[in-house]
Amino acid sequence: MTVEPLQFRQALSKFASGVTVVSTLSPQGEPIGVTVSAFSSLSLEPPLILICLDHATSQLRAYTDGSHFCVNILAAGQQDVSNAFAFPGPRPPFDVVSHESGSFGLPLIKGTLASLVCEREAVYPGGDHEIVVGAVMEAMWDDSLDPLIYAGGGYRSLSGPEKVS
Ligand SMILES: Cc1cc2nc3c(=O)[nH]c(=O)nc-3n(C[C@H](O)[C@H](O)[C@H](O)COP(=O)(O)O)c2cc1C
Repeated sequence: MTVEPLQFRQALSKFASGVTVVSTLSPQGEPIGVTVSAFSSLSLEPPLILICLDHATSQLRAYTDGSHFCVNILAAGQQDVSNAFAFPGPRPPFDVVSHESGSFGLPLIKGTLASLVCEREAVYPGGDHEIVVGAVMEAMWDDSLDPLIYAGGGYRSLSGPEKVS
């Protein structure tokens, strides 16, 4: 006996997380990204993190086969950035989201709470997702910002109980 999918989703929505956009370059060299809350620290020495990507992610192979990616940890107020990469419109998200080119040519989103530049270390199967492990090569952050929070199916601010949209 296993839990019903709807019950499982509802239970998982009780877990509060931060929000990241994982960015990389497509095989054609275009900047691409996907909104990911399934992010975790994995190891301190060596410094490793992991992300979980749905098999339905349109450019999955760019993340599972590419050499490097960046985890952009979003700051409070960046829900528009999260939505741009979760619900892409007619234009590529990086056409409208402010960014700069970092190490390995990776697109780094501006105004984030932190950025982790990673080299792909390993990929493991995880049900209908792929677990991508990254070795962290560079870490940058801004102490003046708060995190964007996702819980109960909506964005929240750290300082208050109210939904922020
Ligand atoms: C707050 C939030 C968190 C998300 N977390 C994940 C995640 O951890 N892994 C994942 O594969 N998709 C996650 N998604 C969904 C993807 O961002 C979405 O399916 C995206 O459009 C996939 O990229 P694609 O349009 O290139 O296929 C999340 C969406 C939102 C709004």
